Amino acid sequence: MRMYDLILKKRNGDELTKEEIDFIVNGYVRGEIPDYQVSAFLMAVYFKGMTKEEISNLTLSFVHSGDVADLSSIEGIKVDKHSTGGVGDKISLIIIPLVASLGIPVAKMSGRGLGHTGGTIDKLESIVGFRTELDSNEFIHNVNTYKMAIVGQTANLTPADKKIYALRDVTATVDSIPLIASSIMSKKIASGSDAIVLDVKVGSGAFMKNLEDAEELAKTMVDIGKSLNRKTIAVLTNMDQPLGHEVGNANEIKEVIDVLSNKGAEDETTIALTIASHMAVLGGAYDDFDSAFNALKAKIESGDAIDKFKEFIRIQGGNPEIVDHPELLPQAKNHIEIKAPSSGYITSIDAESIGISAMHLGAGRRTKEDQIDFAAGITLTKKIGDQVDAGDTICILHTNLEDIDEARHVAQSAFSISEEKPEPVKYIYKIIQ
Ligand code: URA
Repeated sequence: MRMYDLILKKRNGDELTKEEIDFIVNGYVRGEIPDYQVSAFLMAVYFKGMTKEEISNLTLSFVHSGDVADLSSIEGIKVDKHSTGGVGDKISLIIIPLVASLGIPVAKMSGRGLGHTGGTIDKLESIVGFRTELDSNEFIHNVNTYKMAIVGQTANLTPADKKIYALRDVTATVDSIPLIASSIMSKKIASGSDAIVLDVKVGSGAFMKNLEDAEELAKTMVDIGKSLNRKTIAVLTNMDQPLGHEVGNANEIKEVIDVLSNKGAEDETTIALTIASHMAVLGGAYDDFDSAFNALKAKIESGDAIDKFKEFIRIQGGNPEIVDHPELLPQAKNHIEIKAPSSGYITSIDAESIGISAMHLGAGRRTKEDQIDFAAGITLTKKIGDQVDAGDTICILHTNLEDIDEARHVAQSAFSISEEKPEPVKYIYKIIQ
């Protein structure tokens, strides 16, 4: 087989076989096919797309390029969830104890963040002592005993995807639906789950800026899941403003505590309950969405959900007292209030700008080597639809840095205010299954 012929085949819009896809992926990982040929191939995929069969085969090729977790010694149906990424997205941290409180096993493998704020693993590490590097025995023991555990992604999970993603990043081929879908689904499948709930974010702060593209991505990922015998559902959710009120790391943990204690923001609580309910149905605990939703809501109202979060922190080595005393979480020295420049209604809050501002405050990484300041972040005191008077505080920047002009400017310009009241925000757009 020659790489040249495969580039030509894809460039002409023809379908590649499983053997041909494996040849490209394995040859690239082994260093036998150069960057320039794989770049040309990726660009051909960008313009010509891939068939369902090709996308499944590409996903499988990524999966088998590295370690595949064996969760067969965990009893029950293991349901995972994945978000395509948003600003202030702490839903994974809410659903772990919430779904586990129903007795459904949640065996979660998560990543660190590169960009606006930390990933789920970074956020948890803002709790002093919290360990995210469990060996597989402890991980499986915790899921069997407590129904929940989280671990950082192993370095050898889907190495082919890692190498190809890095090439996509510098060849303008990231935003190709077949490539995004196979990249995401390969990591979920290699993590060993039986069923997957996908939270596909749509809006200014998301990869997918409009509903049509988000729906196509969701359908593509659901098709991959089905073709590889994983029950898969996608929930399309709004990311036109950051989720909840907190964007950062330690302050997001504080907000997780609020949601699990029945004091959460409406958008976050609704989305978390919706995703958790689909997980409960896929996990076989309930026959229908409504019964699962009511049962999970009751877990929050009764205090069981927050007790489970305390247990989650304790079994992974953190101090559960932070739940009753969030002031024990890292706190920033400086708190800068941003004021509304005029009176009216908040009509939009550009999520990406809020994320970038949080990164300037120290909450995220610009490069892999950067250290996150867990105390840094932003509290949104107003959200879309809120009425403000000129001079009201619209958000608060938390930081240990002194020079924050850029962060202040970006945060201020993220808000739009108009005299006209905007339409109420829709949190959930659609379910694809
Ligand atoms: N997230 C991933 O893991 N891969 C992509 O290609 C895009 C988002």
